[in-house]
Amino acid sequence: MTGGAGGIGFAMAQAFAEAGMKVMVADIEADALQAAVSRLSEFAPDIRGTICDVADPASVERAAQASFDAFGRVHVVCNNAGVAAGGGIDQISLDNWRWVIDVNLMGVLHGVRSFLPHIRAHGEGGHFVNTASMAGLHGGLGFSPYGASKFAVVSMSEGLAAQLAPHGIGVSVLCPSYVRTRIGESGRNRPGRYGASQPLDPNSPSAALVAEIARQLEAGLEPSAVAARVLAAIRDNELYIFTHPGMRTEVEARFAAILAAMDKVSAP
Ligand SMILES: NC(=O)c1ccc[n+]([C@@H]2O[C@H](COP(=O)([O-])OP(=O)(O)OC[C@H]3O[C@@H](n4cnc5c(N)ncnc54)[C@H](O)[C@@H]3O)[C@@H](O)[C@H]2O)c1
Repeated sequence: MTGGAGGIGFAMAQAFAEAGMKVMVADIEADALQAAVSRLSEFAPDIRGTICDVADPASVERAAQASFDAFGRVHVVCNNAGVAAGGGIDQISLDNWRWVIDVNLMGVLHGVRSFLPHIRAHGEGGHFVNTASMAGLHGGLGFSPYGASKFAVVSMSEGLAAQLAPHGIGVSVLCPSYVRTRIGESGRNRPGRYGASQPLDPNSPSAALVAEIARQLEAGLEPSAVAARVLAAIRDNELYIFTHPGMRTEVEARFAAILAAMDKVSAP
């Protein structure tokens, strides 16, 4: 479980542990990781923690090895760690783009690369849950590294599901809308190699968007509700996991525009 020390990842780790699963919690934030492991260990004996930066393939490889060493065979892998950074079209630095893409997209790829050979080798089947977002299904956030990374995770998960189904390995892509977590404070886990985050001009449209997102997060769904949906979706091998009612309206306009554009091309 990457990004398992807080938010949605912690809630999933808790739900999995309550369901009797052994869980390796992997996270970049050392204090939060320690606190998460000790909270879960109060009621679940088979909880371990490992420091992991999903942007670094070697770090993910070490986390995978720690999981094999602790538990033997691994069956469920949640590539959940994610960060958000944005700003207007003129304000997003290349460092922001690299950080968000490295964590949200490459982090998922690293998880698949490190665990897939193991799951295929033991032959007992398994399941990948890749955390995307509703921001991976419509362009509402505009020219944003977050949206770009999440569209990529949806696409990658769809392709992975088709390729792994014949091997008895399921894939789900988790697409929540707003959930009450600390994603709005992602900068707390920004490694120095990506430079410092640039403060937004408080009078800019980007600052207004960030403030609105913070309001939506505060009023968002509880992470435990997301976790319960994920557990059910793994059991039923569902590809798309939606968590909020009323999501249709968020995608209908985009899908309608795509279909209308296609209809402009008349048949020969
Ligand atoms: N909160 C929402 O409204 C929402 C909506 C849709 C999707 N998501 C996605 O859910 C996932 C979890 O986010 P959250 O909302 O729980 O936020 P969060 O900030 O509460 O939790 C994210 C966790 O990921 C960890 N993390 C950050 N960078 C990492 C790295 N490089 N390597 C390993 N761990 C790292 C953090 O320490 C933290 O424990 C993310 O992929 C996010 O994009 C969140």
